Amino acid sequence: MPLVLLVFSQSHVDFRKAEFEAICSMFAIRVQNMQVLNENEHIFVLNFETCSDVEKLLTRSVLVKFAISLSLEANTYEDLYSQIGKNPAVVDNFDKPDESFALRFFAVGRKKKLDGIERIKMFLDNVPFKNAPISLSSPKNELYLIEKYSSPTDEKPIKIFFGKLLGEGRSELKTKYNLRDRCYIGNTTMDPELSFIQANLAMILPGNLVLDPFVGTGGLILPAAEFGAFVMGTEIDYQTARAKGRSSRQGVGMRNESESIKANFEQHCTDQNLLAILIADSSKHGVWSSNARFDVIVADPPYGVREKARKTVKNKPIVSNEEYTQYQQKEEYNLETAFCDLLNLAARILVSNGRVSFWYPVILERYCPKNLPQHPAMKLISNCEQPLTRKTSRRLLTYQKIREPMNEEECEIRKTGVSHYRSVLFSSKPSINP
Ligand SMILES: C[S@@+](CC[C@H](N)C(=O)[O-])C[C@H]1O[C@@H](n2cnc3c(N)ncnc32)[C@H](O)[C@@H]1O
Repeated sequence: MPLVLLVFSQSHVDFRKAEFEAICSMFAIRVQNMQVLNENEHIFVLNFETCSDVEKLLTRSVLVKFAISLSLEANTYEDLYSQIGKNPAVVDNFDKPDESFALRFFAVGRKKKLDGIERIKMFLDNVPFKNAPISLSSPKNELYLIEKYSSPTDEKPIKIFFGKLLGEGRSELKTKYNLRDRCYIGNTTMDPELSFIQANLAMILPGNLVLDPFVGTGGLILPAAEFGAFVMGTEIDYQTARAKGRSSRQGVGMRNESESIKANFEQHCTDQNLLAILIADSSKHGVWSSNARFDVIVADPPYGVREKARKTVKNKPIVSNEEYTQYQQKEEYNLETAFCDLLNLAARILVSNGRVSFWYPVILERYCPKNLPQHPAMKLISNCEQPLTRKTSRRLLTYQKIREPMNEEECEIRKTGVSHYRSVLFSSKPSINP
């Protein structure tokens, strides 16, 4: 059973366990000691059943930086050298004339930069490689010396690990999908790293049918398409859905013809996975036939700071021509109703075991997990927090459909203060605007 050292990103630590568990569920990966994962440390030794399980994990995880097949773990360098002295095969395995190697150094938990080259030289002086040629650019065996510190100012590590790199996670996706280079963005376009994490929590798989009922510029369905799903969205605002009007980029003026949700997909060659963007009010569930089924719903409902939640009134078009219909959008959409509608929709149109994952704003002093949205047909799987201001945060809630809803079963939100989110925010001048 391979012992694997996982090195995690130090950002979004509250999402770490949920992302890991969701990916393990997706690929039926079994890890004996999963419970050791926590938010305070950033490296963990885990018991996987096979190396191919680790490879599967790395194909999806945004929060795992890299994985090492662990050969040795020691408390001091003396201890490390003595273990190698007693069991030279550990290093001999990598010291073959026809297998090049590179030794890299990585430290976790230490503020001051350490001299990695010095550490590598010291290790190779004590553990000379006699046969394997060095190749820094494309080694057959990429070996790692990893130091773990318990406090950022400590002089000595509390653990030293040695092993071979199995692979890297998907943190490159946040750069590949960065907003600076994206063709079409809006004021509330979701941060790419979080949107990939959300796609993982929602367990989006190739071939899935994924819906975002508050699609905006499509920031949440781009990752779904990157992971091979077929995607669609509904958006109440014609201008947003069709990329018309003033650009959100500073000093740019009006949006140009080349900007569109489709163009965002074309940038990443996933446009064949974009099925449709409908101009529709997601509070009106009648738009979906009783047979409509989606594998996953992802959403970032508007909670009213930069983008108001709205619903159509009387379903009466105010502008209608061949090209589009603009509905009256007068009535404010109460936040509690919007979240209830979303969970009711999920209970109705998700396949069995399908997941819905959505962002939920929270006023910290009113937050109580017991008051989160509940639906008898939906089970809360994970609840991860992204702090926003001193007084507020938002939580990514992920639910799984456990059975078909029965007649009259509805989502319930006990008094949480969600409806007051806007008033509290506007009276407190938040430093980060969700
Ligand atoms: C927070 S934004 C979503 C941003 C999106 N995730 C993105 O990356 O661009 C919420 C979106 O929901 C839309 N919206 C508000 N009320 C709606 C409704 N009743 N039905 C459908 N869309 C709605 C807003 O116009 C806005 O574009």
